[in-house]
Amino acid sequence: MNLILLGAPGAGKGTQGKNLLERYRIPQISTGDILRSNVRSKTQLGLKAREYMDKGVLVPDDVVVGMVSDRIKEEDCLNGFILDGFPRNLKQAEVLEQTLKDMGKRIDRVIGIDVERKELVRRLSGRRVCRKCGANYHVIFSPPMNIGACDKCSSEIYQRDDDSEETIEARLKVYEQETFPLIEYYARKGLYAAVDGIGTVDQITNFIVSAIEKGRSNT
Ligand code: AP5
Repeated sequence: MNLILLGAPGAGKGTQGKNLLERYRIPQISTGDILRSNVRSKTQLGLKAREYMDKGVLVPDDVVVGMVSDRIKEEDCLNGFILDGFPRNLKQAEVLEQTLKDMGKRIDRVIGIDVERKELVRRLSGRRVCRKCGANYHVIFSPPMNIGACDKCSSEIYQRDDDSEETIEARLKVYEQETFPLIEYYARKGLYAAVDGIGTVDQITNFIVSAIEKGRSNT
């Protein structure tokens, strides 16, 4: 099953992707995580990506598209994958479609996670992430047991550079202008299903699983 998780910054794509990978045993491919890992390692790609990420705008398509095309050809994607944060605009969606076609594959379902703007800002401004294992926390909704340390691996918890008030605004604007049109693009192809992104993490996972299974029984 080849799945796309769509949604504004802070909608819960990363959080849900982790639950879905456990359930379906297929990898979660987060372009944001891959880019941040390159930034941390100061690779050439990371150095280029950083200037865009810090401003909250999209990293150029040529950088991201090649990265994803290579990743979905890896062996662990044979039975499927969960794309989190890709595609982000129509160009990326078109290239993805062609790449999959060349591989004799296609996207099976696109799940949009709906969360209102005020809640997105609340989630992003309070988000904290483990530097080592990437576990997600929120200072109010899901704080770690010990301040500043990850519950899972005890490593340092930090606030993402792009979770500042100014950059959050820029990211939401980019989402509305560039990514939101993908909803119509995938709806026209009969692949899109929206789920309510408000509720507990497990409730939302159940909504997503229902939407996936419903899509499967219709094909
Ligand atoms: P990326 O890392 O993809 O960021 P994003 O899309 O802005 O999404 P986020 O990771 O911020 O949010 P999320 O939806 O995953 O929410 P999460 O689960 O963490 O991209 C970062 C940057 O990289 C981009 O700005 C761009 O520059 C670049 N980039 C990435 N992909 C690109 C591409 N394809 N093309 C070009 N550039 C690209 O949850 C958020 C918070 O809410 C957490 O604290 C979490 O604990 C909490 N939370 C989650 N669910 C719930 C819930 N149900 N109730 C309460 N709190 C919740």
